[in-house]
Amino acid sequence: MTTTTVLVTGASGTLGAAVLPRLAVGDLAVRPMSRRARSGWVSADLATGEGLAQAVRGVDAVVHLASGAGRNSGGIDVEGTGRLVTAARAAGVGHLLYVSIVGVDRVPVPYYRAKLAAERIVRAGEVPWTILRATQFPQLIDRLLTASSRLGVLIVDRRVLVQPVHPADVAERIAYLVGAGPAGAVEFGGPETHTFGELAAAWRQARGLRRPFLPVRIPGRAGRELRAGALTTAARPAGTRTWHDYLAGVDR
Ligand SMILES: NC(=O)c1ccc[n+]([C@@H]2O[C@H](COP(=O)([O-])OP(=O)(O)OC[C@H]3O[C@@H](n4cnc5c(N)ncnc54)[C@H](OP(=O)(O)O)[C@@H]3O)[C@@H](O)[C@H]2O)c1
Repeated sequence: MTTTTVLVTGASGTLGAAVLPRLAVGDLAVRPMSRRARSGWVSADLATGEGLAQAVRGVDAVVHLASGAGRNSGGIDVEGTGRLVTAARAAGVGHLLYVSIVGVDRVPVPYYRAKLAAERIVRAGEVPWTILRATQFPQLIDRLLTASSRLGVLIVDRRVLVQPVHPADVAERIAYLVGAGPAGAVEFGGPETHTFGELAAAWRQARGLRRPFLPVRIPGRAGRELRAGALTTAARPAGTRTWHDYLAGVDR
């Protein structure tokens, strides 16, 4: 049996933690990557390129999850993805799977522009590729609502449409796609679409809070796209774990 070696960037992140156990099956050898030195992991920094050549050496596939998540998107998400693609090509990697976000081409915010630029680099990069656009993870929505609640109110544009997808579901899809080989552009969303108002109301109830809503209307094209469903997808298959499952702690 030949072993397929898979490098996972962003392995320490929310999605990475769900991906590692789901890839480490059968004949796959998983090589997690982080900026920090950890036993059994490779250390590399996308912002500088340090360690990347060693990280991709002998690798068959790369699952690229690392992101500045809005901080230094130019250096990490865009230029870092460029560095990774160049290193992967030089190492003869056969498949690069990049995780992006549903709606990056419709919602004009800086982080999404960076993700779209990174997608273009992957498409142009001569390493056979898959771009998996996922919808929002419940952890992100939870963090947004928690941050807002600390201000004493829940700031919500109630009509924004969101389709939360659990990282465990995305990780299962990634494991399938790694096995299947380069697939081009695909999308993956959660099982249900909700208004942000519905998500926030369920969150407030689950957390036992009485914070009042402070309704806002996100202005401009971003707001129009968000309310028109730019963050949602009709793609099938979809995840199975719901926002209510997440709130109930059913996340495995
Ligand atoms: N969150 C969402 O709702 C959502 C939805 C759809 C798609 N996505 C996409 O899914 C991917 C994973 O998201 P996530 O929420 O799991 O991310 P996360 O928890 O914020 O983790 C980010 C990861 O990036 C790594 N990283 C940051 N800077 C780096 C650098 N300079 N060099 C190398 N690695 C670096 C970090 O690793 P170390 O700190 O260990 O170096 C960390 O593991 C991202 O591409 C994101 O855009 C997210």
